[in-house]
Formats: sequence, C-alpha cells, structure tokens
Amino acid sequence: MMMRTGYLLLIFVMLTSTLTGQRKDPYQGITDEKVLPMLKHLPYRHGGMNVPAEDGRLLYDIILENDYQRGLEIGTSNGYSALWLGLAFKQTGGKLITLEIEPQRAREARENFEHAGLENIIESRINDALKEIPNLEGKFDFVFIDAWKPDYIKYFELILPMMNPGGVITSHNVTSQGSSMQDFLQEIQQNPRLTTTIDRTSRAGVSISYVKQ
Ligand SMILES: C[S@@+](CC[C@H](N)C(=O)[O-])C[C@H]1O[C@@H](n2cnc3c(N)ncnc32)[C@H](O)[C@@H]1O
Repeated sequence: MMMRTGYLLLIFVMLTSTLTGQRKDPYQGITDEKVLPMLKHLPYRHGGMNVPAEDGRLLYDIILENDYQRGLEIGTSNGYSALWLGLAFKQTGGKLITLEIEPQRAREARENFEHAGLENIIESRINDALKEIPNLEGKFDFVFIDAWKPDYIKYFELILPMMNPGGVITSHNVTSQGSSMQDFLQEIQQNPRLTTTIDRTSRAGVSISYVKQ
C-alpha cells in the first residue's frame, strides 16, 4: 500500500513539474501548410544537428518583432533553422543568405527550401563562410551563427562591420559548447557596440547581441 501511494505521488510530481515547466508551443500561430510539417518533422531524421524547434521559434520571433529585412546564416546543414528564418523573412518581405561548406548538405537544404516554397526567399551558397563573407555586399540586420564553434570569433569579426545599427547577431550552442568559443563569448559581452543577452530556455543556449543605434 505504502509503495503504491509512493508510486502515485511520484507520477503526480512528474506530471505537475512537466506541466508547470511547459514552454510555449513553438509552432503556435504558424499556419503555412508547406513549412509547418517540415518544421515539425525534419530534425528527427538528422540526429541532432539542427536547432531545437524552440530555438528556431526564438529566432523567428526576433525577425518579426524587429521587422528585419536582410539576414545571413552561417551553417545551413539540411536547412532546418533556415526554414524558420526564411518563413519569418517571407512575412517581413525580407531575404536570407545561408552558407554551408559541405555541398551534399547544401544540396539537401536547397531541396527542402523548394519543397517549402521558400526558394525565392532563401539563397543558399556553398562555400567556407570565412571565404564567402568577404564576397557579400551590403549590410545585414540579422545574423545567425551555427557553424564550427572555435571559429565563431572569426565569423563575428568579419560580420560586425557589415551590420546595420539596430541589427542583431545571434549564435547557437553558447551554453552547451561554450568552452569551444570562450574568446567569442568574451567579445560579445564586452564589445561596447553591442548589448548582449544569453537565452537559456534551451540547453544549447542562444546568444542575442543587438548592435547599438
Ligand atoms: C550545427 S550544423 C548547422 C545546423 C543548422 N543551423 C540547423 O539548425 O538546421 C553546422 C553546419 O555548419 C557547417 N560548417 C562548418 N564550418 C563551416 C564554415 N566554415 N562555413 C560554412 N559552413 C560551415 C557544417 O558543415 C554543418 O553543416
């Protein structure tokens, strides 16, 4: 009897902690019939390379809230996070460039962008970001860094002069892989041109650095 009561209590505690700790549904309000199923199912085929849906939603919301028009992603993989970003830019009337060093992954991403009907919003380029960023023209108001972690500081140094005031540089895995990017983390928190916060709602951690006006 005692054991049964203890067992029921444990289930109750697990249930209530799950419910109270529940975060916003990342797909709430997303109605695009082509993109929504991909946002829900694409990552499960790829063993964890993609951002969690919650982090995709966080970036999506930042783009919409600030009405950003021109974005850059460093590290496309199969294009999962770019689908979140591209869907947001579709709504603001903006465009996204995404960079991937591995041709096979970039090709898969392009197929996904077409399948999602976002091929006119997202431009995929196959190249090492360290070589491709200097080829890019014009300014950006949104950047998402999610490539080789020890090189975050190099991507950052190339991209900062290309940012519009009021724009934002975001990056992934700052909590889960922070030890591989200490120099970058120090820079974004100390640079007087930036106001940085770290979103820890996912275990990976997302840095959000707004460029001062
Ligand atoms: C974690 S995955 C990106 C996941 C993607 N952002 C998502 O959430 O769907 C990192 C990607 O960065 C790419 N990458 C690594 N170094 C790179 C570089 N120097 N330039 C461009 N892409 C790079 C890798 O090939 C890999 O596909």
